[in-house]
Amino acid sequence: MMAVIVANKHAFLSMFCASGWQAGSEEWLQPPETAMTTFLATQDIARLVQRVGLPELLRRLVSYLEADYGRWAAFDKTPRVAAHSAEGVIELMPIADATLYSFKYVNGHPKNHRAGLPTVMAFGVLADVATGAPLLLSELTLATAMRTAATSAMVARRLARPDSRVMAIIGNGAQSEFQALAFHHLLGISELRLFDIDPAATARLQRHLQATPGLTLVPCGSIADAVRGADIVTTVTADKTNATILTPDLVEPGMHINGVGGDCPGKTELHPGVLAGARVIVEYEPQSRAEGDVQQMPAEFPVTEFWRVLAGAAPGRESREQVTVFDSVGFALEDFSALRLLHDLSRQLGLGTLLDLVPPMADPKNLYGQLQLGGQRQAA
Ligand SMILES: NC(=O)c1ccc[n+]([C@@H]2O[C@H](COP(=O)([O-])OP(=O)(O)OC[C@H]3O[C@@H](n4cnc5c(N)ncnc54)[C@H](O)[C@@H]3O)[C@@H](O)[C@H]2O)c1
Repeated sequence: MMAVIVANKHAFLSMFCASGWQAGSEEWLQPPETAMTTFLATQDIARLVQRVGLPELLRRLVSYLEADYGRWAAFDKTPRVAAHSAEGVIELMPIADATLYSFKYVNGHPKNHRAGLPTVMAFGVLADVATGAPLLLSELTLATAMRTAATSAMVARRLARPDSRVMAIIGNGAQSEFQALAFHHLLGISELRLFDIDPAATARLQRHLQATPGLTLVPCGSIADAVRGADIVTTVTADKTNATILTPDLVEPGMHINGVGGDCPGKTELHPGVLAGARVIVEYEPQSRAEGDVQQMPAEFPVTEFWRVLAGAAPGRESREQVTVFDSVGFALEDFSALRLLHDLSRQLGLGTLLDLVPPMADPKNLYGQLQLGGQRQAA
């Protein structure tokens, strides 16, 4: 099929008007707007972030996330579908409400850097429930890093002590700058303690953030040094094993732990004793029990889904001394919110290209005729 790729939607519509297509005419059974899919490539997402600014984009992501988490009951939810292998996992993450459907394809391969590839790679689709038409096909590798950081910040606003200023980041890989900047801009974190088993990763994170006004960076020689005295601890390491990044002796009263890297069966970061001594918030319990750090705990171990805290149906932090844990695994709703925002911004900013993922047919039953036309548009 010959792909129709046009610089932007306005150019596309003028091309069709120039070639005789009129809105409302019977010549095509569907106007091109509904038949075409917007495609956002990596460079479109980078341009979009440049235009909006990363802090503002993270803020908008949080407001879309809160809007969607605030409509929890409206969603048809399911744990993600995973295909595990020795080196990693490939997952599909679907979700829908009454008007929009989305899915994300995402992998997690901690040794990928040896092959010159990121640990996490993703793309996703937003579709119209009424017709099934794909509205948006987007890169989601960058977008996943942004939505994960925005989700962490959204949850930390309800769980961390409001006067939190110092955060430790254990694991200084691809996600780490996004986590750091979300907590700096949205929660007022002003000092970051950095630790990674790979000193080059810490050096890169330092290089990227050193010019950020109001942010002090402190590279540390061990997890214990990084965590001592921190208000918030973000663990965002990658290893396909039951790692123990945080042990109970490192946890201080009142800490909030943002556990991001334990997100797969057999892949955890927190010692069970850390969870046992904390109030634990999860995204979607059926998925988190299998994939989160709480996979190590008995089935009756209490966890609270975040939407209940947001709705005021359950408390967030209950005391200044309480230790809180966000056992983040990444839920499909967060990608739904991200895709919704990207779709809205692509239209507002005129970014992206239009693809004919669906055959553009005058007679929708004449699919075979599409082959005879060699992919050309069918006239009525
Ligand atoms: N919860 C979510 O929604 C979500 C979203 C995206 C990624 N993730 C997970 O976050 C993790 C990090 O992703 P990434 O893209 O930054 O991966 P990455 O491979 O780019 O970075 C991981 C970093 O962790 C470091 N590391 C590994 N073991 C360590 C240890 N014991 N102590 C300190 N540092 C250690 C590595 O050296 C590396 O620099 C992955 O496990 C990924 O699956 C979770």
